[in-house]
Parts: sequence; structure tokens; C-alpha cells
Amino acid sequence: MSFIKVCQRDEIPSGGMRRVMIDDRTPITIYRIGDEFFATSDYCTHGIASLSEGELNGDVIECPFHGGSFNFRTGEPVDAPCTIPLECFKVEVQNDDVFVNYG
Ligand code: FES
Repeated sequence: MSFIKVCQRDEIPSGGMRRVMIDDRTPITIYRIGDEFFATSDYCTHGIASLSEGELNGDVIECPFHGGSFNFRTGEPVDAPCTIPLECFKVEVQNDDVFVNYG
């Protein structure tokens, strides 16, 4: 595992999220709540949907396809039809740069 720079802190407002690409082929969604950052796989585990196109509500990301949802802090499913957890990644912020532990 290694930390990869994915964006700058100010590119994501608090309460917002952003899709980033790791190694040019793996999409990850970065979420920001205040000064805390979280990262999950961008693809919903129920189908081929980009969660970064969904809706944020507190700690929950709602999928844009069928309305299923996940807690992005833990990856755990919150609402059906989602039953499989999202993969989560550790995030570190150094100065103004956001890094994700991926590898
Ligand atoms: S693809 Fe996400 S809930 Fe169905």
C-alpha cells in the first residue's frame, strides 16, 4: 500500500465530494466533512453507477441509480437494494494535498 496524491484540500468543499482517478483506471470518491476526508470506491456495489453523481446526506451517499445508500465513513450499506459494503481507503492530508492509501 502507498499513499497517492489525488487532489488538493480546497478542491472539495465541506459537505462535498469529488471523483478522482487512481492509476488512470480506478475511480475513487473523496468526501469531505469539515476538515475530515474519507474515500471509497466510486462504483456502487449494486450496479454500474458512479456514487460521485449521487446525493450526499450527512455521512450517507445515495446512489443515483436505484436509491440505495452507504455510510461513506464505514462503507456499510444503509438502504436497500445495497447489501455489499463499499471498499474504503485511508486518507491523509498533508499541507494542502489529499492522499489516498491505495495499492
Ligand atoms: S446501482 Fe446503486 S443502488 Fe443500484
